[in-house]
Amino acid sequence: SRTAARNEDGVVTVGGIEVTRLAEEFGTPAYFLDEEDFRSRCRAWAEAFGADADVFYAGKAFLSRAVVRWLHEEGLNLDVCSGGELITALDAGMPADRIAFHGNNKSPEEIERAVRAGVGRIVLDSFQEIVRVAHIAQGLGVRQRVLIRVTVGVEAHTHEFIATAHEDQKFGLPLAGGQAAEAVRRTLGLDGLELVGIHSHIGSQIFDTSGFEVAAHRVVGLLAQIRDEHGVELPEIDLGGGLGIAYTSDDDPREPHHIAKALHEIVTRECENAGLRTPRISVEPGRAIVGPTAFTLYEVGTIKPLQGLRTYVSVDGGMSDNIRTALYDAEYSVALVSRTSDAAPMLSRVVGKHCESGDIVVRDAFLPADLAPGDLIAVPATGAYCRSMASNYNHALRPPVVAVRDGVARVIVRRETEEDLLRLDVG
Ligand code: LLP
Repeated sequence: SRTAARNEDGVVTVGGIEVTRLAEEFGTPAYFLDEEDFRSRCRAWAEAFGADADVFYAGKAFLSRAVVRWLHEEGLNLDVCSGGELITALDAGMPADRIAFHGNNKSPEEIERAVRAGVGRIVLDSFQEIVRVAHIAQGLGVRQRVLIRVTVGVEAHTHEFIATAHEDQKFGLPLAGGQAAEAVRRTLGLDGLELVGIHSHIGSQIFDTSGFEVAAHRVVGLLAQIRDEHGVELPEIDLGGGLGIAYTSDDDPREPHHIAKALHEIVTRECENAGLRTPRISVEPGRAIVGPTAFTLYEVGTIKPLQGLRTYVSVDGGMSDNIRTALYDAEYSVALVSRTSDAAPMLSRVVGKHCESGDIVVRDAFLPADLAPGDLIAVPATGAYCRSMASNYNHALRPPVVAVRDGVARVIVRRETEEDLLRLDVG
């Protein structure tokens, strides 16, 4: 978080509030989110992309009513990928025309809800869906604005991208072999649909813009083909999300203005070469906006030194509040935040309290050798895909999200209670 500092006693403060006070008031584990940081990242993205582009925050990274209001106030749009995200967005007052609806298997009920609400665009992901959305829109007497999601044959990963095999996945319609062009043909032929553009999402936690450049090149190729075949120039190109953040000091993320400049340049150049008007660009950052704005606060419970190996430090949460280490081998850092220590560094593994040996929060970390039960430790950069992927494994109660701003901390998603847990169990 941008506002983290240590007070004279060595206690970390966030927006001026000691973490010890936060733990007392809100308990642990808990996620603390720096609202001003979130808002300023929204503004940075909006300003970097400018008036001829649209930024859609990807709600899957983390969504709540408060987040929706912040996005609305900061002028961002919102990408939702389920009925649940859609109702959260609508309930919190996001204007429907600023919502994009994604997903590879949207139910007819979800589609109808989205069309009725008047969402700005639905991103079509299969031949069945083209027909479904057209049918529902026509039944409601509207023309739904849609994009078609294509797979461009680039799969980007952190530092490299490989140009094979990634059409072998569930999302999108492949450019190669003509399925994407066929989807365009069918969409243009249906009264209920207004095709406004082509969408591509190449991956996540990407640092290098070259994967986006290849994607832009291929999408513009399709736009040229559409112009040649159908005589229409589609007005939009959506390059998806996926921009990486720093989880550890090894990561070197790009600033939004750098990304915006690279994408504008490549799209403009490719369109000039193809003799096309430059379309509006849209992007869908999730992690890059919310990821760095939050940290998870845990209390240390047990400490188990294993001779010649490492010390296992158990905290009061685990894979139920951060599945990413277990699922993706993701790397996180950790720090002692309730005090300072001059003790020697001790090779540690921070683990949770779940009944599973893969329940690891931070695989390798150095914590001070005098670490003791009751100490508070914090794992930064847990704003994205931690609360949103949290589970009730072992009947864990999912932690709250607390927003901190101007020295005031307030719960935006409350902690689950035993009553919440038992309420669903009606047997
Ligand atoms: N747009 C589309 C169409 C997407 O599929 C995604 C992510 C995004 C935008 C946002 O990507 P971001 O900017 O947040 O990287 N659970 C995984 C990430 C899965 C992302 C899926 N789609 C994780 O924890 O790393």
